[in-house]
Amino acid sequence: MDKTIEWINEGEFGYSLLIDQTLLPAEYKRVKICGAQEMFDAIKTMIVRGAPAIGIAGAHGVCLGAIELAEEENFIEKLLQIADYINSSRPTAVNLSWAIKKQKEIILLNKEKSNREIIRELIKNAIKLENEDIEINKKIGEYGSKLVPKGAGILTHCNAGSLATVGYGTALGVIRSAYKNDPSIKVFADETRPRQQGARLTAFELLADNIETTLITDGMCSYFMEKGMINFVVTGADRIASNGDSANKIGTLTVAIAAKYFNIPFYIVAPKSTVDMNLKTGKEIVIELRDKKEVTHVNGKPVCPLGVNVINPSFDVTPNSLITGIITECGVFKPDEIYKAFS
Ligand code: MRU
Repeated sequence: MDKTIEWINEGEFGYSLLIDQTLLPAEYKRVKICGAQEMFDAIKTMIVRGAPAIGIAGAHGVCLGAIELAEEENFIEKLLQIADYINSSRPTAVNLSWAIKKQKEIILLNKEKSNREIIRELIKNAIKLENEDIEINKKIGEYGSKLVPKGAGILTHCNAGSLATVGYGTALGVIRSAYKNDPSIKVFADETRPRQQGARLTAFELLADNIETTLITDGMCSYFMEKGMINFVVTGADRIASNGDSANKIGTLTVAIAAKYFNIPFYIVAPKSTVDMNLKTGKEIVIELRDKKEVTHVNGKPVCPLGVNVINPSFDVTPNSLITGIITECGVFKPDEIYKAFS
């Protein structure tokens, strides 16, 4: 598969190319993003989604904003405002503000240079972050694969795959690496209502890799755990507090509670850029509330009586007590080791 997000050098500076994830699996299409507002919209409408991928999208967005401002006198001031604006597109995944902070450092480090030189430095940095993401995921995969039992039945929730990163994936990276050593593993993919990232994206990715995958609806995980068909759980994360509490797609907490009940290892898989050392606990994580229509409608058609109350939180926080370990590119940590490991 192509990179989920890729900077294309063309003409003087270039543009960002995204796989449009709103169309998958029915249609595979890459879209050209040429401006900061377009990138803001692509993140908000989830053309690009998944914590590491929206981090790189943020970095690209700053490059695109800079290109649009190339002739401006107040270049630095206006560009920093645009960077903050892009950062406001989605609140929960810390990778977005992490990557934008990296771009702001480049802007300030090079502030004596010409606008065009700063743009070139920003693009260089964005491409570096883009390439590093794949390397990081491969390292994560190596660490994680050693934990997977032979012939495991692995449950994953949402999509923490190639499509949620630049390539290879975090939780799916662990599955991909485990599969190389043991093709007998089987994956259960939670459908992941309301946006169906599990059905649309995880099943799509794993099928393309010939990894045996069974799609289940979100309420079914305990059934298969009780039957002994799931004995290992891996999910991604959008923000990990310094005590190891981890925010991930809504429904992850339910999976973690069920895993604890059945004594099944539950691992969070994420790069260290997902750790937010500014937060003591997960209670401080801002949870994005999305449009109610994501719940009330499927393919534009209502699936409930109009007028019913609806709340649509996009993420939940799994407390550290339910997490067996956190798999990163720096190794595998118990949740209470995160503070020491990353401070
Ligand atoms: O709303 P989404 O699709 O951006 O949510 C994605 C998730 O919750 C992923 O599990 C998380 O970002 C980790 S991706 C490696």
